[in-house]
Amino acid sequence: MTASPPDTTPAAPLAAAAIRAYFEGGAGDEVTLRANAAAWRAIGLRPRVLATPRQVDTQVTLLGRRWPTPWLAAPMAHLALAHPDAERGLALACAAQGAGLVLSTQASTALESVARAVLPEPQRGPLWFQLYPYGEREDWLRLVQRAHRAGYEAVVLTVDAPVQWAGERERASGFALPADWPQPNLPARPETGTLEALLARAPDWDDVAWLRSHSPLPLLLKGITHPADADRAADLCDGLVVSNHGGRVLDGLPPTAALLPAVVEAVQGRCPVLVDGGLRRATDVLKALALGANAVLVGRPLVAALAQGGAPGVAALWRRWHDELRGAMALCGAATIDALTPALLCHGAFHP
Ligand code: FNR
Repeated sequence: MTASPPDTTPAAPLAAAAIRAYFEGGAGDEVTLRANAAAWRAIGLRPRVLATPRQVDTQVTLLGRRWPTPWLAAPMAHLALAHPDAERGLALACAAQGAGLVLSTQASTALESVARAVLPEPQRGPLWFQLYPYGEREDWLRLVQRAHRAGYEAVVLTVDAPVQWAGERERASGFALPADWPQPNLPARPETGTLEALLARAPDWDDVAWLRSHSPLPLLLKGITHPADADRAADLCDGLVVSNHGGRVLDGLPPTAALLPAVVEAVQGRCPVLVDGGLRRATDVLKALALGANAVLVGRPLVAALAQGGAPGVAALWRRWHDELRGAMALCGAATIDALTPALLCHGAFHP
């Protein structure tokens, strides 16, 4: 008896090494990719003793909603390449473990199908939709309206990648999406061809203001690195994500741990500030929160967990991170996320 192939099998299966290169790789020499993780590690913790809280509470409140953990899955494209559970599996595991999810425009699963999996879960974190601004403004708005109808609670416009090309690791691996690869959420075909064709469609601040005024959902900008842009975004939008796209777009950007404090300072509490890039365990998250982030997005650790163990692998990762965060908060004398402050941290090769 021959088993019929699963319906997510691409026409020409990609080599596992090429898929790995796509998920793990970064732009250029991967300087930013490596620096992101190294920078969190280089921050030291300097807790006070004999101040252990009797209880630890990891809940956060963002955009008027309270949920059990300070993290969301970052938007990541093409997750059916990692595991047949794909975006629905990631979403279910996040919802069951009280984590949020940001679904990518380039997901391999329809946004409605992901929403149906997540929305009934009582403990779930926020469900947001990430928007790549392909096509015309009206195409973006139609997609945002579709996400709104499906139950998404915010839209995250990615502003740091008007031009994208494959990283060197990815190119060397021979990675290429099969021609018939499913992308059921694209507002329009991504522009291809000359650099000039891409630049002609790159969004600007007027586009952001237009989208904000027409969108039925709160709007966050993802890919903010400069404090002056953060200042402008805080006046215009409902939140921002300090991100260098996990070192996948422009190599040479500083690590997000180094960028975050100036952005927090510029925003002055006008809107939530999230951060991503290089967070590899819960103590890294604790440091990001202590530097002033209101929550974090996590990328590659989740795709690795999904690839290895499907939805149960993702759930196990979140459980480990939650245990580690609670333990580390207790050791730092922090009963709540708000109690994590820069006073807990020391910089520069652990010199207080
Ligand atoms: C991404 N990222 C991303 N960002 C985005 O806005 N839309 C997208 O479709 C994708 N796709 C994507 C695919 C893959 C394979 C990766 C690894 C990343 C960037 C992502 O949202 C996030 O900014 C980084 O992944 C965070 O860094 P870490 O946690 O991976 O180090």
